[in-house]
Amino acid sequence: MNFTRRRFLSRSLFYGTPAVAFGYGSLIEKRLIDVTRTDIPLSGAHSHLDGMKIAVMGDFHHDDFGDNHLIRRAVKAINDEQVDLVMLVGDFVSSDPRALEPLCAELQHLRPNIRSFAVYGNHDRWHSSISLSRMLAEAEIKLLTNEVVEFQEFAVAGLDSVWGGAPDLPRTFAKCPENKPILLGWHEPDTFDHYQDPRVALQMSGHTHGGQVCAPVYGPILLPEYGRTYPYGHYRKEQSSLFVTRGIGTLTIPTRFLCAPEVAILTLRSGRDATAM
Ligand SMILES: [Fe+2]
Repeated sequence: MNFTRRRFLSRSLFYGTPAVAFGYGSLIEKRLIDVTRTDIPLSGAHSHLDGMKIAVMGDFHHDDFGDNHLIRRAVKAINDEQVDLVMLVGDFVSSDPRALEPLCAELQHLRPNIRSFAVYGNHDRWHSSISLSRMLAEAEIKLLTNEVVEFQEFAVAGLDSVWGGAPDLPRTFAKCPENKPILLGWHEPDTFDHYQDPRVALQMSGHTHGGQVCAPVYGPILLPEYGRTYPYGHYRKEQSSLFVTRGIGTLTIPTRFLCAPEVAILTLRSGRDATAM
């Protein structure tokens, strides 16, 4: 009798705990918005950007996820922060470009002080390149595909997805001004190791979903190609920073655990040490 009860309890624990975690993750956690704030240190040469605020958001996978209300809340959270720039770091849909219309209907309400930018993710490149380019243009979001937009005190560059597209790093960096800091969007974070250029003040990436499902203490259980070295948060190399956002949506399994959807607010700061997350 005792043996039977013990076996029943252990089986309940074995099968029940993941089921409860899955239920919590799919019903509650993936509907949350976590607005995180991180200070990004600037090197001396870039100190004139002190105080600039940038919102980073991505990995909507809106055909899998499809929560227009959550996107609306995320857009409102960004507008409430009165950021200078927005960088959308790709994977707007997983495979069905029809989901771009409701997604961009929300994203068009982004109101940064300067401008909103975007880069392709690998899924966008595989399934929805042309539609995404058109829809973002209608939403007044500038898609950067190996392109550079120069402002008075800095430049914003965006590279094509390394997994799904054709990034041209040398030509893109050659188009950047010699004496201005570069704010770079590139979907896959492990590309941070593909260059060493002191002009890059900040690279903004997504792709990993922060793991999407994380185990206590252990962290992310599964990470994608080009997202295994830098899974989430702030990293520093020489004068450059990398920030990887957890993103918004879900892929493969419709749940998140210990890894809520994120709107990342980055503030560039001169003369401070890195604030790792
Ligand atoms: Fe991706």
